Formats: sequence, structure tokens, C-alpha cells
Amino acid sequence: MKSRAAVAWEAGKPLQIEEVDVAGPKQGEVLLRMVATGVCHTDAFTLSGDDPEGIFPSILGHEGGAVVEEIGPGVTTLKPGDHVIPLYTPECGQCKFCKSGKTNLCQAIRATQGKGLMPDGTSRFSLNGKTIFHYMGTSTFSEYTVVPEIAVAKINKAAPLDKVCLLGCGVTTGIGAVLNTAKVEPGATVAIFGLGGIGLSAIQGAVMAKAGRIIAVDINEDKFEMARLLGATDFINPKKYDAPIQDVIVDLTDGGVDYSFECIGNVNLMRAALECCHKGWGESVIVGVAGAGQEISTRPFQLVTGRVWRGTAFGGVKGRSQLPGYVDQYMSGDIKLDDFVTHTMGLEDINKAFDLMHEGKSIRSVVLF
Ligand code: APR
Ligand code: ZN
Ligand code: ZN
Repeated sequence: MKSRAAVAWEAGKPLQIEEVDVAGPKQGEVLLRMVATGVCHTDAFTLSGDDPEGIFPSILGHEGGAVVEEIGPGVTTLKPGDHVIPLYTPECGQCKFCKSGKTNLCQAIRATQGKGLMPDGTSRFSLNGKTIFHYMGTSTFSEYTVVPEIAVAKINKAAPLDKVCLLGCGVTTGIGAVLNTAKVEPGATVAIFGLGGIGLSAIQGAVMAKAGRIIAVDINEDKFEMARLLGATDFINPKKYDAPIQDVIVDLTDGGVDYSFECIGNVNLMRAALECCHKGWGESVIVGVAGAGQEISTRPFQLVTGRVWRGTAFGGVKGRSQLPGYVDQYMSGDIKLDDFVTHTMGLEDINKAFDLMHEGKSIRSVVLF
């Protein structure tokens, strides 16, 4: 079938709207009709050419809200008409990782997904006979896309897809980092570095965990108002201090925070986030994605004296079993998404979403099909 899609032909060039061909779903796959998709930094990172694993031409996008259009042979858990969120971190329930009970990093289709292909090693996208590759196993910048059954979370039909699409990446990542990865307990003191979509979501997670003090850190003070509305209690602009920001936070918190979250992707701030943690127990979680080839550093004594450094992907959330619950929490008002959608646009204007993101003007742009 034909589908309108934004194609990334090559690195560093704007996306181009095309009528691509989409082949039907094969064994264990489903065809989705996209209703809405968020635009995330990871899409921009890949499009920029800095992502060493980027493949072109491809159809980017991984924050989708969609409806199942058709199911392939062998699919048992989905049917046409189901409302879903595609998962770049699938959940097969069978692999060593899924069975470990310790991680959400299912590896069932990792190899082919990384090559821009479906699990059988081929692509469903083409244009004039030329192969176009999948991206993150989701390719949500297309009106129609094919995904493996294990990479689909079935959600409440009453949920607005143009909002809950954000649970496909950024918001879930931020909330999950706090609730799943760090397991912040009531009364804890928390510092959040970076108040974009991810950091603001981490603030929501800290509020849900009933943290006592939530310190919001950003160099752009325009971000403080939204952080305050979501429940942050303290606001720090590192530019206003001469001392290293970790020292400022340690002073402010009688020895350091219980938990910190780096939601920017800056390796210097990852160090600051670790070092602002309390001696003996403070834990820092890396949520932001640093540039290719970058490295983190600190003195090992920081860890010897009881601080813990961790990382998280998709907030440690298992997509098929746990994401539907996040959608229900949005429906009951416990998770806020509406204010995160600062801009909406049609697919033809998708490049504007990238501009807004680079200019720091949006929390999230949502493309409506
Ligand atoms: N110190 C403090 N805050 C900073 C600094 C700094 N040196 N540099 C940037 N920031 C702030 C920005 O002002 C912005 O508010 O960090 C925030 C980042 O927000 P966004 O750019 O909107 O990014 P977001 O979508 O939240 O993602 C953050 O997570 O998924 C990854 O790739 C993504 O690495 C990125 C990170
Ligand atoms: Zn993302
Ligand atoms: Zn698995």
C-alpha cells in the first residue's frame, strides 16, 4: 500500500515527504496506522549524522500513537482496531533478558532492529523499488508502518493518541527513571538536571514517589515555571554561581541529595550529578544520551564512599506489561501530558518540529496525521 512518510534520505538534510510503498505484515508482524507522533532528540541525533548507528535512507520516529490496521500470520495478542503505542524496546517475555526479571532490555530482535530491518532481515518500506530502512523498529514518521507484535503495547481505547504518544519515549523515560530505576522513596531529596521533556517527567516521577524536596537545575530559567507547576520545590541556575554546581547543591542539602538524575546528555553534568549525591548512599541516574564516543569520569573515591552511578533506558519500563498502566495513570490524572505538547503540526511541517527543538522552544512537538 501507499503511505505518506517523512523520509530521511541522508544525514544532515531535512526530511522529505514522500508517498512510499509499505508491504503488508509478515509472520508475527502488524501493520499500524499512525495517528500522532512526538519528535524526540534521538530522531534529531540520528538525522544529524552523529549517530554512528544511523542508517539512510530511513523513516525515523519512535514516539507514536497508532491503531492496528492489519495483523500478519501468527499474531495472537492484537487485532485490527486496537489502540497501541509502538515500542523501540520490545518485550518478548522469552529471552534471557526478559526472563531475568532484572531489566527491560529485551534482546529478541536487537540485531535486525539495529540494522533497520524487520526480524526476518528485510524492510517493509520502499520507494520506486529502492529499499528504505526502518528506525528503532518503529518508524512512526509514516502514516502506515509495520512493527513486530512483541514491539506493540495495547492501550486503553479511550486515551487520546495525540497525547499518550509521548509515553512512547520521553515521558516514560523520565518517570520510569525515578520510579523503576532509582526507586525513590517518600521524603527523599532529589535533584533533576535539565528541564526538557525528560527532566520535567522526572519531576513528575519524583512527585509520584512523594519525594520531600525536588531541586530543579537548568541554565534556562524560562523552564522553572513549568517545573514549579509540576511540583519542583527548589530552582538552581548554575550560571548564577561561581562554585561548581555540585558544591552548591551539597551545601544546600546538608551533605548532598539522596538521588540525582542527569536529563541533558552532558558528560560534565553527569559528573556533577554524581558528585552532588550524599556520601554513603546517594544514587545518580544517567538518563540523557551523551554524544557518540564521549566518556564519563569522576574520582573512584566518590563510589568507594558509597555513591552509586546507574543508567536507564526507557525508564526501565517493560513496554507490553507496564506501559498500558502508564496510559491509565494519565487517564486518572496522575501523569500529566497535555502541557508537554507545546506545538502540533501536520506531517508536511515536520521539519519545523526539529527547528523548534534545536531552538529550545518546544517541550514536545506532536505531528498529527
Ligand atoms: N546546565 C543545565 N541545564 C542545561 C545545560 C547545562 N549546562 N545544558 C542544557 N540544559 C538544559 C536545557 O536548557 C534544557 O531545558 O537541559 C534541558 C534539555 O532539555 P531538552 O533539550 O528539551 O531535552 P529532552 O527532550 O528533555 O532530552 C534530554 O535526554 O533522551 C535524551 O537525547 C536526549 O540527551 C537528551 C536528553
Ligand atoms: Zn526518544
Ligand atoms: Zn525478550
